[in-house]
Amino acid sequence: MSGWKGLLTEYAEWFHLEGVREVVTLQEGNTPLLFAQRLSERVSANVYLKFEGLNPSGSFKDRGMTMAITKAKANGASTVICGSTGNTSAAAAAYAAKAGMECVVLVPEGKIAVGKLAQAMIYGARVLQIRGNFDQALDLARELTQHLPVTIVNSINPDRIEGQKTGAFEIVDVLGEAPDILAIPVGNAGNITAYWRGFTQYHVGGRAARLPKMWGFQAAGAAPIVLGHPVANPETIATAIRIGNPASWVPALEVIHESLGDIRAVTDAEILDAYQFLARQESVFCEPASAASVAGILKFGVPEGSTVVCVLTGNGLKDPDTAVSLSGMPPVVDASLDALMKTLS
Ligand code: F0G
Repeated sequence: MSGWKGLLTEYAEWFHLEGVREVVTLQEGNTPLLFAQRLSERVSANVYLKFEGLNPSGSFKDRGMTMAITKAKANGASTVICGSTGNTSAAAAAYAAKAGMECVVLVPEGKIAVGKLAQAMIYGARVLQIRGNFDQALDLARELTQHLPVTIVNSINPDRIEGQKTGAFEIVDVLGEAPDILAIPVGNAGNITAYWRGFTQYHVGGRAARLPKMWGFQAAGAAPIVLGHPVANPETIATAIRIGNPASWVPALEVIHESLGDIRAVTDAEILDAYQFLARQESVFCEPASAASVAGILKFGVPEGSTVVCVLTGNGLKDPDTAVSLSGMPPVVDASLDALMKTLS
């Protein structure tokens, strides 16, 4: 039997894996690229959804983490650390467990979706809630690497970006070409940087004739790149991208310059509209931050007839609270036919 073997094996020729004897993988990647019928009709274009929520820990972070943990292990590390809005910590905890390594995660107190917290805990990470935001958690994780023998696995670790570039490879492998536009949520700005690297490497390598325009979307309350200055107290319902000072700010600016793209803001209301639209019209349950990519194309429009890929970065099950609070708890009825008939008719 031969199935999908995970990114580092499937795309081995695109990586530098010298010195690696053991690949740490959960068979991440190979996620669906769904044609979005109703969304396409709404924006008069051909829109696809790259559903990254179907990775092993439920987000795109697994792409970077297979590489980061594989390299950390090859370098003899025994403990990894990250600051996180939740998904990085879930992925780091999962891959560290697989590798038999310790994992320490710093998360902003009360500002991470409950599913992500549950993941980091059950995978066995040492989870600490910081009285502060993500930017402070990341700064502290960085500082700790100066004082403790730990390897940081945030996207400031170059191995993370390397792994995440495979999202672009998979899109081109399915479409046979790069899309006209890649729409993607932006938080710490690592993923937009990674996708661009993937598209450009495939282009240079002759796998794609053209390059997409990169359209990044930040939440309006956490939009430092759009505003042109750091945001001290970022706020958004999309907690995954509640970030005021992105680590990959400069690379992201280069990406939008080189690709003739842009980074723009969408409000929480627009994000929630897109989040609900995706579930009800496309049967895709992603987390709120992921819906920023779709909110962006709905808000700003796309050229008629163009091919657009929206990256849906994480699974909706990670943040059940938002889904439930948006819909309200279901009514309770007596366990009788009579009561049901009354309620349903
Ligand atoms: N979407 C989701 C679901 C995320 O978790 C993140 C980042 C992003 C988008 C933005 O990606 O940071 O590469 O621009 N989450 C990080 C974390 C910060 O800690 O899980 P980015």
